[in-house]
Amino acid sequence: MTIKIIQVSDIHFGGENQAATEAALARFHQEKPDLMVAAGDLTRDGVVAEFDAARAWLDRAPTPLFTTPGNHDTPYVGPGELLERFIAPWRRYEARFGPADGGVWRAPGVSVFGVNTARRAQLRWNWSKGAISGSQIRRLEGQLASAPGDARIVVCHHPLMELTGEPMTSEVHGGTRAANSLTMAGADLVLSGHIHTPFVSPYPFGDGKTRAVVSGTLSVRERGVPPSFNIIEIDPTQIRVTAMGFERTDFVTLRSWAFDRRQA
Ligand SMILES: [Fe+2]
Ligand SMILES: [Fe+2]
Repeated sequence: MTIKIIQVSDIHFGGENQAATEAALARFHQEKPDLMVAAGDLTRDGVVAEFDAARAWLDRAPTPLFTTPGNHDTPYVGPGELLERFIAPWRRYEARFGPADGGVWRAPGVSVFGVNTARRAQLRWNWSKGAISGSQIRRLEGQLASAPGDARIVVCHHPLMELTGEPMTSEVHGGTRAANSLTMAGADLVLSGHIHTPFVSPYPFGDGKTRAVVSGTLSVRERGVPPSFNIIEIDPTQIRVTAMGFERTDFVTLRSWAFDRRQA
């Protein structure tokens, strides 16, 4: 049995590529995925209208849907917005998408665990960077241990480590430790966004069979790659990831990766 997941991120409603988001919906329905994953940065500025647009678009996508917030999904433009950010950073997100941290989705043969790597504020200038705490890592370790034999998938917005020549960094506090821990705990895939370009790369730990899978953007903030999303196909022995890029009116294969799954 093959499990098919569509992974999107960084749609940034308010700055979405409208032709790409419309064409993507049509393609999603053709693909008939078992799960839609939206790995954060659903909005541009975290304002209410953008959250509503994101929810309306995802309501037109196949179900079930699993989301996690990104660094853009909390308010930050203007005094009233900053107050909201400090009082209730995830209120708008959670009203439309459920808990910002700790989401779980399970189906026969697959378990998906969410973790929020975005922060309302940090002890550094750039609050767009990510963080993962010791307690979040321990929670994931326990969740992964509870799903032996499943394809075990973690979803977070920020790539935990810099692995390739990415056009930007996410400098996740605790990220290297988390990548090591998730490898040892048997995660198969860690799905993220944030970079706005797709890539797949193994973490340099343990058996090398835990892969970071990053999706691109469906916004106008392209970083050298057209608007894109990922199709992930999980077989009992192999996993394939295909990055689909928007060309003029439709999505075509940009790049694909295939690798053996960790065997229990
Ligand atoms: Fe983004
Ligand atoms: Fe981001």
